Amino acid sequence: MTTMKSVFLAAISVAAAFPAADQVTFSEHVAPILFNRCTGCHRPGEAAPFALMNFEDAVKHGRLIAAVTASRIMPPWQAEPASYSYKDSRRLTDVELKTLQAWVKGGMLKGDPAKTPALPKFPEGWQLGKPDLVLKMEKGFTVPAEGADIYRYLRIPLNLPEDKYVQAIELRPSSRKVVHHVLYYADATESAKKIEAEQEASKSRTAGMKFTRGLTPLGGVAVGAQPHLLPEGLGLKLPKGTDLLFQYHFHPIGKEETEQSTIGLYFAKKTPEHTLTGVQLPVSFGLFSGLDIKPEQRDFKVEDSFVLPVDVQAISVGAHAHYIGKTMLMTATLPDGIVKTLLDIKNWDFAWQDRYFFDGPVFLPKGTKLYGQVSWDNSEHNPKNPSRPAIPVKWGEQTKDEMGAVTLQVYPAVESDFRTLQQTYRKHTAGIAGERLMKDPGLMLKIRELAGGTN
Ligand code: HEC
Repeated sequence: MTTMKSVFLAAISVAAAFPAADQVTFSEHVAPILFNRCTGCHRPGEAAPFALMNFEDAVKHGRLIAAVTASRIMPPWQAEPASYSYKDSRRLTDVELKTLQAWVKGGMLKGDPAKTPALPKFPEGWQLGKPDLVLKMEKGFTVPAEGADIYRYLRIPLNLPEDKYVQAIELRPSSRKVVHHVLYYADATESAKKIEAEQEASKSRTAGMKFTRGLTPLGGVAVGAQPHLLPEGLGLKLPKGTDLLFQYHFHPIGKEETEQSTIGLYFAKKTPEHTLTGVQLPVSFGLFSGLDIKPEQRDFKVEDSFVLPVDVQAISVGAHAHYIGKTMLMTATLPDGIVKTLLDIKNWDFAWQDRYFFDGPVFLPKGTKLYGQVSWDNSEHNPKNPSRPAIPVKWGEQTKDEMGAVTLQVYPAVESDFRTLQQTYRKHTAGIAGERLMKDPGLMLKIRELAGGTN
C-alpha cells in the first residue's frame, strides 16, 4: 500500500516538474542539463569525441543522446543508487532523463535563445585546478600499431626534499587513445629502478609486471575516469626520496602512438590525522578465488567476505575487472543484521572504471560483515567479449584474461586501531591463499612466473 502510494506520488512530482513534450526547448530545459552534465567532457581537449556546447551540437547528436541517456551509457556512471549517496554523482535524475527524451520526441525545439544559460566556466587543462607540483615524463613510451596489450611501468623521480602527503594525483596522457588504464604507486626503495632495468633488458610485453613488489599503491585512473581529491584531513604519504611509478596498460590502436604523460600532484596542507587502507574482496583481485570460466558460462561468480575487527570510516568504493565482467556488488551487514549496499554495478563496462566517493565518511562499526561479489559473462551474447568464439578464461593480466574485485577505501575510526585492521586483513588474505594453493598446486607456478616477470 505504502509502496503504491509513493510510486504514485513520485510519478506526480516528475510530471509536475516539466512541461509537455512540444513545449520542451533547448534554451530553457535542455541546455542546463547538457551544460551541467555533459559539456565537462564534451568540449574541445577533453575525453569525449564531439562537443555538446550549443543548440546545433545538440540537434546533430539528438537521437543518439536520447538513446545513450535512456540506456544510461551516458553520462558514464556505472553505480546504481546505493544505501549511501555518492559525491559528484553523474547519474541523471529521472526528470533530467525524461526532459531529454521529451525534447527529442517533440522535434528538438530551439526556444528563445535569450533564455539559454551561459556556458559554465570549465577548468582549462587540470580538472582540479593548479597542482602544487607538475612533472612531465622525461622520455615518452612508443606503443606499436599492432599486437597484444602492453603493461609497462614508467618511473618519475619526485626528488622531494621532505615527506609529503598527497591528496590527489591527476595524470594527463598525451595520447589518450592508447592508454587503457594507469595505476599509481609510490616507491621509497630501489624497486622502481630495478623494474625499469628489467623492462629495458626484455622484449616481453609484460616484462617487469610484478606481483608482490612492496610498492605502495596510490590509486589510479582508468580511461575516462576523473581525478578526485581526498577529503580534508586525509592524504597518502610520500616519504622523502620517493619515486612515483605508473603502471600503464596500453592498448595498440592500429597506428604507432607515443605516450608522454604530464602528472600534477596536490599536497595536503597539513599532516593527515588518519591512515587510509583498502579492504579488497575477493582478495588479490580474485587470484585465489578459483577463477575458471568456461566458454558460454553466463554467470560465473566469485565472492569473499571480511568481518571488520575495528570501527572504520569508509570514504570510497571502486571495482575492477576486464572486458567480460558483468556485475559488481559490495554490501555491509551491520552488527544488528541490517544490510546496506555500498556498490551495485549491474552492467560493468571496462572502459569506465571509476572510484565512487561517498558524500561523507560512512561509519561501519566493528563486527560489520563486508561482502564482495563479482560476476562474469563469458558468452558470445556478451558484446564486450573480446574472444569469438568464447574461450576458457582464467586469472591473468592480459585483457582476454580476467581478474576482479571490489575495494572499499577506509580508515580506522580510532587511529591506533590501524595495525589491528591491517593484520586481520592480511591474515584473511593468507588464509584464502593457503586454502587455494592446497587445492591448486599449479597456481604457485603461475605466481612465481608473475613474480619473475619472464612470462
Ligand atoms: C566523463 C566524461 C563524459 C561525460 C560527463 C559525458 N560524456 Fe558522452 N562521451 C564521453 C566519451 C569519452 C565518449 C566516447 C565513448 C567511446 O568512444 O566509447 C562519449 C560518447 C558519447 C556519445 C556517442 C555514443 C556513441 O555510441 O557513439 C553520446 C551521444 C554522448 N556521449 C552523449 C552524452 C550526453 C548526452 C552526456 C550528458 C548527459 C554525456 N555524453 C556526458 C565522455 C563523457
